[in-house]
Amino acid sequence: MVEKSLVLIKPDAVERNLIGKIVDAYESNGLKVIAMRLLKVSEGLAEIHYKEHEGKAFYKSLIEYITRSPLCALVLEGENAISEIRRINGATDPKAAEANTIRSLYAIDKTENSVHASDSKESALREISLWFPEVINKLELEHIS
Ligand code: CMP
Repeated sequence: MVEKSLVLIKPDAVERNLIGKIVDAYESNGLKVIAMRLLKVSEGLAEIHYKEHEGKAFYKSLIEYITRSPLCALVLEGENAISEIRRINGATDPKAAEANTIRSLYAIDKTENSVHASDSKESALREISLWFPEVINKLELEHIS
């Protein structure tokens, strides 16, 4: 099934000029970039995006990290995109990530782990609506016409 997912190439990766290598990992696995934006995230957007982690021990350092310098937000589309992107990314903790996954190659630690991706259809819809409302609007218009 063709799906869409939200990916963030996070500040640690953008700071180390890894956007090209990371996008190549997705594209060479058959995924298509359908939206892309470089932005320095506000605390407000970071808090909404990471709402489910509020109150956890790492929450404060996660918000500081994700807002400290620009990140690259993307919408990727492809066959089983949600699970495929999570496979390409590897485990949250780079020490546990499979060889040759993005996190095994580039992540620094559990927080500065280079990439984020939606973990379900529901979170993909929520996250794409938050970061790229125009993509959702376009889908709705296509559906109506
Ligand atoms: P992400 O996939 O963006 O989703 C939540 C983020 O919180 C995660 O990647 C990491 O950046 C961070 N994170 C998750 N678990 C931990 C942890 N145990 N310690 C520190 N940071 C974490």
